[in-house]
Amino acid sequence: MWANCFLPGLALCLEATAVMIDKEGLPDTGLDTSNWTTGELPPISDMIDINDMQFAAKNTLSGKNYAYYRTAALDEVTYQANLFIWEKIRLNGFSFVDVSDINLNTSILGYNFSAPFFIAPAAKAGKASAGAETNLAKAAGAAGILYVPSISSSENTSTIGAAAVDGQVMFHQEYIWSNKTKLQDELDEIEAAGFKAIFLTVDNTGVNGIRDRSMRFTSGSNSDHSATFTIEALNQLRNMTSLPIVPKGVKTAHDVKLCADLGFPAVYISNHGGRVVDMAPTAVEVLLDVHKQYPEVFDQIEIYADGGVRRATHVLTLLALGARAVGLGRPFMFANVYGEEGVTKAIDILTLELTTTMALMGQPDIAGYRGNTTFINTRQVELEYFGAPLDVDPSSSPTSIPSVSSGNATSRQ
Ligand SMILES: Cc1cc2nc3c(=O)[nH]c(=O)nc-3n(C[C@H](O)[C@H](O)[C@H](O)COP(=O)(O)O)c2cc1C
Ligand SMILES: *[C@@H]1O[C@H](CO)[C@@H](O)[C@H](O)[C@H]1NC(C)=O
Ligand SMILES: *[C@@H]1O[C@H](CO)[C@@H](O)[C@H](O)[C@H]1NC(C)=O
Ligand SMILES: *[C@@H]1O[C@H](CO)[C@@H](O)[C@H](O)[C@H]1NC(C)=O
Ligand SMILES: *[C@@H]1O[C@H](CO)[C@@H](O)[C@H](O)[C@H]1NC(C)=O
Ligand SMILES: *[C@@H]1O[C@H](CO)[C@@H](O)[C@H](O)[C@H]1NC(C)=O
Ligand SMILES: *[C@@H]1O[C@H](CO)[C@@H](O)[C@H](O)[C@H]1NC(C)=O
Ligand SMILES: *[C@@H]1O[C@H](CO)[C@@H](O)[C@H](O)[C@H]1NC(C)=O
Ligand SMILES: *[C@@H]1O[C@H](CO)[C@@H](O)[C@H](O)[C@H]1NC(C)=O
Repeated sequence: MWANCFLPGLALCLEATAVMIDKEGLPDTGLDTSNWTTGELPPISDMIDINDMQFAAKNTLSGKNYAYYRTAALDEVTYQANLFIWEKIRLNGFSFVDVSDINLNTSILGYNFSAPFFIAPAAKAGKASAGAETNLAKAAGAAGILYVPSISSSENTSTIGAAAVDGQVMFHQEYIWSNKTKLQDELDEIEAAGFKAIFLTVDNTGVNGIRDRSMRFTSGSNSDHSATFTIEALNQLRNMTSLPIVPKGVKTAHDVKLCADLGFPAVYISNHGGRVVDMAPTAVEVLLDVHKQYPEVFDQIEIYADGGVRRATHVLTLLALGARAVGLGRPFMFANVYGEEGVTKAIDILTLELTTTMALMGQPDIAGYRGNTTFINTRQVELEYFGAPLDVDPSSSPTSIPSVSSGNATSRQ
């Protein structure tokens, strides 16, 4: 960025000014943006963690397009809570384990993927890159992870479906439009384009959340979402497609249980990245509430979750609380400012963090974390959310000593 030129003609005008990016309170990991140029893509080699992608997008995109991705509802209490709930959690890592063979393979609705994280449905990838959703589909396909495009994508359903690499499985998000013809047409298109399941977003029926940051650039518009989406309407909708339906945007333990009892194969706990009900709880809190009120649900159905996931430690936390797979919305949209290469880099960053953290925590198999609260201490969250910890064991980590399979250090002394 060049300094303002108060006295044209003077050499003073050419003095470069270091670019400062407001990092919005996100963790400071030493990213030096001083030699970046506002409006230009920084070198991708500067991208070391997922939050760096947000800063690169903020530096590169127009204020309007950045706001579109970044915005959240009202005071963004939930948006912030999603990002910072992790500070209240402690992970228990164990030594003396063979961690030479790391396995991230995870099945989601019976389909095999290479990692337990996926690209969550987020509208309008074209605001970050001309390659739009195709970039996301290709990067996900090459890496073997799940991508779930939004029905409000920049590209149409058949174009995104056609971007699939050989054998790639994708699911597709859908909204409940008040226009039933449109709904039926889209469900048919999704099925015809080869998508294997529907993530049906149930958290913004009728209206979208009020999102100030984006409303400063565009007025809030009619969502065209049905405002009469009752249980009866849901039953009718299940007749409109042969694909499995996963309700997305469930934000209370009550509704998780309701969906499980209605016979859905899975439910997706999400507060929509804080874009719908401000002050809604985080996925961590909802999962704890499900443990408290309806623990049987974890054996009934698969559970996915999202919101503020930026590190492998966040993925492992949600897995340990019972989620099978974890979505990331904004991070991949921001990474797409670098096109497919950026999305691939974001996937690689998270994968490296996961394999590293799993090795350091002493459980090399991703399946070993699922529902295994041995690995996490969530009592600080429980204390605040429930008024008391769920379990009153005063020790901070598990105290049962696993049996020693061979040797005895004491007897060898
Ligand atoms: C720009 C943007 C657009 C989104 N569009 C959709 C959408 O079309 N359908 C949907 O179900 N969720 C949508 N979401 C919500 C995401 O699927 C996801 O729940 C959320 O982004 C997760 O939070 P995170 O961004 O902190 O990872 C959108 C989120 C963002 C940021
Ligand atoms: C800025 O500096 C970093 C670190 O020295 C370097 O990797 C990067 O390429 C530089 N960026 C530009 C735009 O010169
Ligand atoms: C993970 O899945 C891939 C693809 O199916 C397979 O090649 C690989 O061996 C699996 N890894 C482990 C550790 O099972
Ligand atoms: C998925 O992975 C499991 C376990 O590794 C394997 O048994 C199964 O054959 C795989 N399914 C497909 C469709 O590749
Ligand atoms: C989808 O978009 C492609 C590329 O713009 C276009 O060729 C195709 O006709 C569109 N398909 C539908 C069903 O709209
Ligand atoms: C409903 O959707 C169909 C299919 O997209 C469209 O042709 C029709 O005009 C829509 N009806 C209304 C009232 O908007
Ligand atoms: C769903 O379809 C079945 C079989 O066609 C029918 O018996 C049932 O009444 C339908 N349910 C609803 C809620 O429309
Ligand atoms: C949870 O993980 C611990 C540590 O790896 C292990 O000892 C325990 O058997 C696991 N529990 C379950 C139920 O898998
Ligand atoms: C190890 O050896 C000591 C001394 O012989 C014995 O008291 C102890 O029970 C042994 N521990 C295990 C885990 O075998």
